[in-house]
Amino acid sequence: MILCANFKANKTRQETRAYMAVVESFVSANDISDTIIVFPPFTALDHDPRNVLIGVQNAYPVQNGAYTGEIALEQLEEFGIKTILIGHSERRHVIGETQEQIAAKFRFFADQGFAIVYCVGEPLEVREEGDAALLSYIEKQFEGIDLSYADLILAYEPVWAIGTGLTPSNRDIELLHGVLRGKTHAPLLYGGSVKVENAGEIMALENVDGVLVGSASLSANDFCEMIAQAAELNTEEENN
Ligand code: PGA
Repeated sequence: MILCANFKANKTRQETRAYMAVVESFVSANDISDTIIVFPPFTALDHDPRNVLIGVQNAYPVQNGAYTGEIALEQLEEFGIKTILIGHSERRHVIGETQEQIAAKFRFFADQGFAIVYCVGEPLEVREEGDAALLSYIEKQFEGIDLSYADLILAYEPVWAIGTGLTPSNRDIELLHGVLRGKTHAPLLYGGSVKVENAGEIMALENVDGVLVGSASLSANDFCEMIAQAAELNTEEENN
């Protein structure tokens, strides 16, 4: 399983440090073999990771240059960051990144050999139009994206499920992930209102290889609890 914590614009550097201490101790104390990735804000990327990867929530696709307010490859390299989140719904719908910009970012960081957590997902009005509309919307989010990229992790995050407490039914998650499985060998994450109460159930679904967690990941203890649930699923699988 792969479990990601997306802090968004939350937590200071000091809070991130305390958080990492809790999660890293938990991971070593429990011999966790799952992949754990934390995406802190830019200001808290300076961490020497032991057993948890640190990724960046965004970056500008250049080595360096005149891009006021952005950070680029050179700054990431200083912190040894090799993992990036691309196409998150807040980048698409709040910040206004276009598919063209997102695809350019994907190409640049793929060329640099980054692990890329690439997010897709539909707004509510699209979902309400039915399965055909939903699938064609998601299809457009694959324009310019290399789904055979070796270090790709694909996250399905319905826009209407992010930060709302709403989640698709298990059947709907399985349906969509089944379609995604037909398109790529990449691990498939589900994201959108994942929390302690539903993480185990969601991770147990067919074609779900992990979760991308926002609000509920802000509590280190809750995130550790979700990691424990993933570990339990591994044990169950081994015993079957
Ligand atoms: P949420 O956010 O868990 O708060 O819904 C998920 C995400 O935006 O990645």
